[in-house]
Amino acid sequence: MRSVLGFLAVLLALVSAGQALSCIQCVSFGNRSCDGLSVSCRLDNVCGASYTVTTSGFSVVSRIYMRVCVPKNQCNLQGSVSVINVMSRFGGSCCNTDNCTPDLPTLPAVNTTFNGLVCRTCVSADSDWCYTKDTVQCTGNENMCLLQTTSITGEVSMNTALRGCTTKSLCDLSQHTAEYAGQKLDVRFICTGGTAGLYSGLTLSLVAILLTNII
Ligand SMILES: *[C@@H]1O[C@H](CO)[C@@H](O)[C@H](O)[C@H]1NC(C)=O
Ligand SMILES: *[C@@H]1O[C@H](CO)[C@@H](O)[C@H](O)[C@H]1NC(C)=O
Repeated sequence: MRSVLGFLAVLLALVSAGQALSCIQCVSFGNRSCDGLSVSCRLDNVCGASYTVTTSGFSVVSRIYMRVCVPKNQCNLQGSVSVINVMSRFGGSCCNTDNCTPDLPTLPAVNTTFNGLVCRTCVSADSDWCYTKDTVQCTGNENMCLLQTTSITGEVSMNTALRGCTTKSLCDLSQHTAEYAGQKLDVRFICTGGTAGLYSGLTLSLVAILLTNII
């Protein structure tokens, strides 16, 4: 019996291993296409593309197009983040055959109407924590306050943190990990729906302790 189960387990492993996709991995700063090497994805992943446009007022700060292996549940992700006076809008798309090229992702429409929510805002380029008294008024469907921590490890290591307004889509992700050219990326999205005033000292220190333990 045990050997039959063992055989079945091996068979299942082989069958699923056969379904792992190969996808192109590349990044382009400026163009909405890129070329790169084909890599073998994890079993639950498909070939994804993401496009992120960051604007400050009416001027574009950056346009980043990426192709990577992504978990299926992160296909078609769309949303935005607003920090101080900078807004990043992003869209994703996927396809699921070897080295396929996903459709060009579409970005959410810009909506500059204030929605009443006020969030703390800050940016730290060299730590996984930031907190200031500054606030930002949220617009459109950015209905959540976000604390995003990013940790990159590998040849180059760095931690960044930011606070601002975001769409529920990003909060629902809660965590995003990726590996690219030997670098490991770990992004955490911690959200609250409240106004800036809702952050009590206690909540903050609890979050601080939590973060220290996680990272
Ligand atoms: C964008 O693509 C064009 C044509 O394919 C190329 O000439 C240009 O260098 C690319 N720009 C960037 C920023 O990759
Ligand atoms: C823009 O955002 C406001 C505030 O959330 C909302 O009431 C309005 O319906 C949005 N407009 C569009 C066109 O989505």
